[in-house]
Amino acid sequence: MRNSPQTLSAPGGSAQRPRRKVFIKPGHSQLDWMRLSTSGEDLRGVSQLQVLTMEEIAQHNKRDDCWMVVRDKVYNVTRYIDFHPGGRGQLMRAAGKDGTELFYDTHPWVNIETMLEKCLVGVITR
Ligand code: HEM
Repeated sequence: MRNSPQTLSAPGGSAQRPRRKVFIKPGHSQLDWMRLSTSGEDLRGVSQLQVLTMEEIAQHNKRDDCWMVVRDKVYNVTRYIDFHPGGRGQLMRAAGKDGTELFYDTHPWVNIETMLEKCLVGVITR
């Protein structure tokens, strides 16, 4: 409904960009993600934080092995893919890449540092 809270754009969002509805599998809400990421399960897939080059990160560009850089931090987003409210395809646009611009162009209000804290693999060296 026009002007309902659901259709108002979020801070930093563009009024011109329509929100797209994406099918998310049952059990993959944001609350489910928070539950998984605080469960103690290993979501990083590395034993210690690393300093990585873009070449190393580029190797992890598949759905079952997906890393992404946002603001110089490297995240293993493999487990997050099915939880992404914007859909798998959107997230995969930055697979194995520096997704900083894409991320902040799309949703500057999303707190990635908190949401993906347990997915941190390391930092990038330039
Ligand atoms: C860099 C590649 C990414 C792209 C291209 C992308 C794209 C999108 C798109 C198109 C939406 C739907 C926006 C809408 O119309 O409502 C969305 C939503 C969302 N994405 Fe991403 N995303 C990316 C990465 C991420 C990452 C790494 C996270 C993890 C923190 C994330 C978290 C979210 C959240 C929480 C929403 C829901 C936002 C809201 O409803 O306010 N995204 N994303």
